[in-house]
Amino acid sequence: MAVLAADGCVEVNLLSSQVAAHAPYGGVVPELASREHLRALPLLARRAVAAVDGAVDLVAVTTGPGLIGALLVGVRFAAAYAWGRGLPLVGVDHLEGHLVSPFLSLEGRPARDAPEPVLALVASGGHSAWFVVTADGAHRHSRTRDDAAGESLDKVAQAMGLPYPGGPVIDRLAQRGDPTAVALPRPRLDGGDLDLSFSGLKSAAIRWVRDRSLTSVDEATASPEVRDFLASFEDAVVEQLLRPAPELVARHRPALLTASGGVAANTRLRQRLTELGRDLGLEVLLPPLALTTDNAAMIARAGQLAHRRGRRTDPRRLDASAREVWQPPGMRRRVTGSADASPRNGPDPV
Ligand code: KG4
Ligand code: ZN
Repeated sequence: MAVLAADGCVEVNLLSSQVAAHAPYGGVVPELASREHLRALPLLARRAVAAVDGAVDLVAVTTGPGLIGALLVGVRFAAAYAWGRGLPLVGVDHLEGHLVSPFLSLEGRPARDAPEPVLALVASGGHSAWFVVTADGAHRHSRTRDDAAGESLDKVAQAMGLPYPGGPVIDRLAQRGDPTAVALPRPRLDGGDLDLSFSGLKSAAIRWVRDRSLTSVDEATASPEVRDFLASFEDAVVEQLLRPAPELVARHRPALLTASGGVAANTRLRQRLTELGRDLGLEVLLPPLALTTDNAAMIARAGQLAHRRGRRTDPRRLDASAREVWQPPGMRRRVTGSADASPRNGPDPV
């Protein structure tokens, strides 16, 4: 739960982590996630609103994509809150939130204005894509054809018996490993395509783990072999993610390069992006670490900007979607003809 000032300054940013609740199950348990939301939301809302003496004039909520039960709890809560207090409501796709997160600060500063165009990488557990963002909206120019980057990190960690989510653990272990130690495939798609692929790399990494029976690794006692392997795997994931960047920079001449989503917390990715920016003479803007993974501040900011562009969401019609509904303008919708695909939450250009 977050509260932002009109200039995008983050005034309150509260997080109720569910990691401990799900940890015994080795992954997220959907039903548990909904119940935890139900328990946490009223408490967080009371604290957040009290922290700004009740001065709230807009409610923003993410409508998806994600776990449908948890989303519905959030959406109904926000709709009821807005309705009850007579406040305007804005539904936001969570990717819109990631795209604005690099412009936020957690040190009491206003949000930065975005120059045009911005070249933006979004890399999370569910998405890996490159966008070019202008005043017209966000146009997607590259996306993964199979797994997301974070998903491949999580699956490899899971195969090794490491805790969920795997990304942060791999990040820590890889920092003490040699990224050149283990050769792993870095598949390219045919025809000079800018799209991304992680499944071949993930499968090869899981095979490597199983061939060596490294299926119950403990972070505290991980061997140099494990650390070298994870550094090599992480290096390959980062290389795959960044491969389209030089071509996209040449084509779109961005004024700024950003990265967001949980994987943008990764130490190696952040270093590589900084180096890339230096090589290409381009400013790189990364979100504060705490705003890389899913958070309410980015949803509030995206909602605030969408509201200024005229988006209004009727609290009686607000719905959540587990699937990807919002499509950047310029892309054809992949899902058509279903209720989920209709833009009833008013998705509009970012
Ligand atoms: O954006 P996010 O919180 O949720 C989704 O939208 O999916 O991203 C979660 C993903 C997980 O796959 C997690 O393993 C990954 O972000 N992640 C990281 C790091 N921190 C979180 N991956 C690599 N290095 C990290 N430090
Ligand atoms: Zn996310």
